[in-house]
Order: sequence, then structure tokens, then C-alpha cells
Amino acid sequence: MPSIKIVTIVGARPQFIKAAVVSRAIAGRNQGVAENFEPINEIIVHTGQHYDRNMSDVFFEEMQIPRPDYFLDIHEQSHAAMTGRMLEKIEEVLIKEKPDFVLVYGDTNTTLAGALAAAKIHLKVAHVEAGLRSFNRQMPEEINRVLTDHVADILFCPTRQAVDNLTVEGIGLNDSARSDRSESKADGYRPSVELAGDVMFDAALYYQKFSRKPQIDLPGEFVLSTIHRAENTDNLARLKSIFGGFQKIAKTLPIVLPLHPRTKKTLQNQNIEIIDSNIRIIDPVSYLEIIYLLEKCALVMTDSGGLQKEAFFFKKPCITLRDETEWVELVDNGVNVLAGADSGKIYDLCMEAMSKEYDFDLDLYGKGDAGERIVRILTDMA
Ligand code: UD1
Repeated sequence: MPSIKIVTIVGARPQFIKAAVVSRAIAGRNQGVAENFEPINEIIVHTGQHYDRNMSDVFFEEMQIPRPDYFLDIHEQSHAAMTGRMLEKIEEVLIKEKPDFVLVYGDTNTTLAGALAAAKIHLKVAHVEAGLRSFNRQMPEEINRVLTDHVADILFCPTRQAVDNLTVEGIGLNDSARSDRSESKADGYRPSVELAGDVMFDAALYYQKFSRKPQIDLPGEFVLSTIHRAENTDNLARLKSIFGGFQKIAKTLPIVLPLHPRTKKTLQNQNIEIIDSNIRIIDPVSYLEIIYLLEKCALVMTDSGGLQKEAFFFKKPCITLRDETEWVELVDNGVNVLAGADSGKIYDLCMEAMSKEYDFDLDLYGKGDAGERIVRILTDMA
């Protein structure tokens, strides 16, 4: 029987979580496929961008993601070198596999390399988590997501705001609006914008029942924090200011900080030692462990995109250690607040959050069926 072939391209930690949801939906669909329907054959390519056991393997194991069919082993280089090597290797795989769709996730160098390699050889690109914008081109992620969206054929948006962002850029306009804007329609390029919901919401709902305590002593009440964005780790003044805020908070409230290798390297290279016993620096944790920490924490302080939403899924307020966010609906609804890297603001907002009431009863990220919707749309388009 013929099958629909999808090449999934992942490489960084948040992509493993998102791909787990869609892979599970593919497996579910294949099980229920009636006689005359085509099953989906998913080929997984891991670029190697994240390669430590606790940044990669553990996600495949505990989220039961099928083993990658290709591991490209590309990491630890400048952005151009990393993206360039990925382009070359991904193109080889795509030429060999000739898939019906190439599925990319999020906004990393892996995302851009996968989308561009596919688009250049006229394969259909589907982008999961399309349409997000920070409007800050200093961020490598913003460049990656804008370029990926502009070569993608199918754009799976997690939020209404993401759909609106694409509309402003002329993506997803209907044909008559497009013909007013473009000189020629001869290229046949008709991107399809789909409001699918957020696959990370699906993941939180499904994996919650498997949450697991990390092997550490946990304080009764604590703040959960992560820091890894280049804008914070590669700017020493910002990083020191964030830790300045943390030190003030830690006098009354312990902070649990699973440290990303990028941040660890910066602290080591700059000889910065965090000796406050109330700032518990631990190795990166697995997805099931971060869910446990999210369930138990009092609030979240982070510069991660994913964790901002996960705080919301687990009904915890979030202080975002950035000057802007792509997840504006969280800020608009008062459950997330931007502190930037200002130590005084971080402290004040944290204290305020501890005594505030929040309404988490909001429908922002779909119904928890984004994975199934994505698979259904792809099969309908095949
Ligand atoms: C990348 C993404 C970012 C995403 C993040 C999730 C880009 C531009 N950035 O940032 O959007 O939010 O992943 O974590 O694609 N390292 C290790 N071990 C690992 C992985 C990384 O030591 O398993 C080191 C790298 O060698 C490098 C540093 O950490 O020195 C940063 O890694 P890199 O993949 O460049 O970017 P991230 O900060 O992880």
C-alpha cells in the first residue's frame, strides 16, 4: 500500500517535546487507518544541535519518541557554520527520502536549516509553531522564525495572534488579496495558514500523569527558574543583574535552577560562582521532571518561550526575564509579566506575584488536540 512520507527534522530540546506529540498522533492515526487509507511513514532526522544525554536522549526515551533514522552530529559552531552544515546534510537526506512533507518545529537553527533545505528542492515545508514574533531581530530565533515562515507551505499556528502576525506579513491572505500584492502567481506558491492550537499544551496534558521527582532535595516552597537565551547569557551585564535579583529573592524564597549548558559555560568562562545555598543550581532535568517542578513550584522565572506557557498550563504565574515575549496573550491576561534583566524589577515582581491572585481559567492554546489536527490536515493535503 502506498504511504504518506513525512520527514521530521529536530535537533534542540524543545523540538523533541513538540515532535513527541505529533509522532504520537501519527502512530495513533496509523493504528486506526481503515483499509483504503494510506498510513504515514515518519522518518526522523536529528541534527545533533543538542547532544548531551540530559538535553537529548532522555527526551526520546521517556517521551517514547521513535529513534532518529538519521543523526547528523552537527553542533557547537557559529550560527552560519552550524546552519550551513545542517543545510548540506539535510539536503542529502531529503534527496534520498523524497518525502511528501518536511516537518520543522519552532525557531532554532535546526528549524531554519530544515525549512530552507526542503524549500530549495521544492519539497513541501510544514512549520509547527508558525507566526510567532518578538519583533526583536537581535534574537537569532526571530531571524529563524521569520525566514522559516516565509518559505513554509503549511503554517501551523498555536494562537490567533500568530495567525494575525502572518496576515500582516502577507502570508495566508486569500488569492485575490495576494494577486493585488504579487506581480505573478506563476510560482504556484499558496501557503496555507492553520490555527491548530499549541502542541506543547497537548504534551502537558498527556505527560502530566507520568511526572517524576528529580533526584534532589526540594524545598517546600520555591521558585523554578531557567536562563539560556543568548541575549542574557552573552551579555554579562544582563546576566549579573539577573543573578543580583535572584540573590535578593533567595533571602526569603529558594530558587531551583536547572542550568542550561550555555549558561553553565558562561558562568565558568567568566569565573562567576553562585555560592548562595538558596539558589539550587542543578543539571538540566528531563521533561517528566520539569513537569514535577512545575506542579510543585510557587512561580516561574524564565527567559524560555516554552516554560512561559508551561507555567500557565500548570497555573503558576511567570516572570519573564526578557524585554518582550512572543506569547503576548499571557501578558495581556496578567499571568505573565516582563521583568527584563533588571534586578530590582525581578525582585519586586517576584514579591508581588507571591501575594497576588491569578485567573488561569483562560482558553488560549486550543483544546489539547493540536497534534491530531496537524496530522489530519497533512493527510488531507497529501
Ligand atoms: C538553542 C536555540 C534556542 C532554543 C534552545 C533550547 C538556536 C539559535 N537557539 O539555544 O532557540 O530556545 O536551543 O534549549 O538554535 N550545548 C551543550 N550540550 C548540549 C547542547 C548545547 O554543551 O546538549 C552547548 C553548545 O555546545 C553551545 C551552547 O550550549 O556552546 C549553546 O547551544 P546552541 O545549540 O548553540 O544554542 P542554545 O542556547 O541551546
